[in-house]
Amino acid sequence: MAQTVFITGTSTGIGAAAVRLFAAHGWQVAATMRNPADAKFSNLPGVRVYALDVTDAASVQRAVAQAQREFGRLDVLLNNAGYGLVGPFETATPAQIQQQFATNVFGVFAVTQAVLPAMRAQKSGVIINITSVGGRTAFPMNSLYHATKFGLDGFSESLWYELAPFGIQVKVVAPGGVATDFAGRSLHLTADPNGEANPYAGQMRAVLDAFSSRGGAASQPEHIAEIIYQAATDGKNQLRYIAGDDAERLLGAKAHMTESDFMQMIQQNFLGNNG
Ligand SMILES: NC(=O)c1ccc[n+]([C@@H]2O[C@H](COP(=O)([O-])OP(=O)(O)OC[C@H]3O[C@@H](n4cnc5c(N)ncnc54)[C@H](OP(=O)(O)O)[C@@H]3O)[C@@H](O)[C@H]2O)c1
Repeated sequence: MAQTVFITGTSTGIGAAAVRLFAAHGWQVAATMRNPADAKFSNLPGVRVYALDVTDAASVQRAVAQAQREFGRLDVLLNNAGYGLVGPFETATPAQIQQQFATNVFGVFAVTQAVLPAMRAQKSGVIINITSVGGRTAFPMNSLYHATKFGLDGFSESLWYELAPFGIQVKVVAPGGVATDFAGRSLHLTADPNGEANPYAGQMRAVLDAFSSRGGAASQPEHIAEIIYQAATDGKNQLRYIAGDDAERLLGAKAHMTESDFMQMIQQNFLGNNG
């Protein structure tokens, strides 16, 4: 029987690229998204589209149950859905903070709990959480996003131990910059970078400029999908997969520099005179 992968957030970007790659390798793919009308691959062989909003517990239960019924088993869970929240912490509203954690963290918890009974019963499975280079190191003006991705990183490391006795592997794929809708339609801001009353406006503009000037170094989502596929199929006990040349360079520098030198470099690179 073909293997089955269950993926969240597949309307665009890394999730959509992963759907195509797993399908091309002959997998059965449960491609989930908030609005199934957004699906651009519903006629791909082996792919079925399910409505799933990771912040809606009922939709998580429904989609997991339906995929299990229709595909017979779930071998790999790819927790991919997520978005960035940029701007000063001070001005983030409670609703923005709630939504960021509901999507990037509690959404992962909900989908993971929904698939675990089946994976435990079949004594096999791979759970892949998409974190970020921002789950291992932080940039200015991204405190809440980092809180979610650092959180997922630690969650995954602990779960690795907990699920190993049941034959379930836990993996983290941590991309650097990726050319998707992440920095466009998906990005949320906690303040107006051009607002005259915003005391953090200079920092915000500097960070947004720094991110967009790094756009050329971004990986393509298809490259990240290849690393996800490797994590899903290599059978290794490896927890983390750093995805993208920029991510490897940055984390390599962090490993070899003193903390204060590294932080000074980040401050200079991202904030310049605004630091
Ligand atoms: N692009 C980067 O530079 C980068 C770097 C590091 C990590 N990442 C991580 O990679 C993952 C995928 O992002 P991407 O780069 O592919 O960006 P993207 O193109 O914006 O895709 C994000 C996906 O998440 C979905 N999503 C958002 N909220 C959701 C919810 N409540 N329920 C279900 N789906 C939801 C979006 O669905 P809608 O179409 O409904 O909005 C979309 O399908 C995220 O976890 C992100 O943090 C991205």
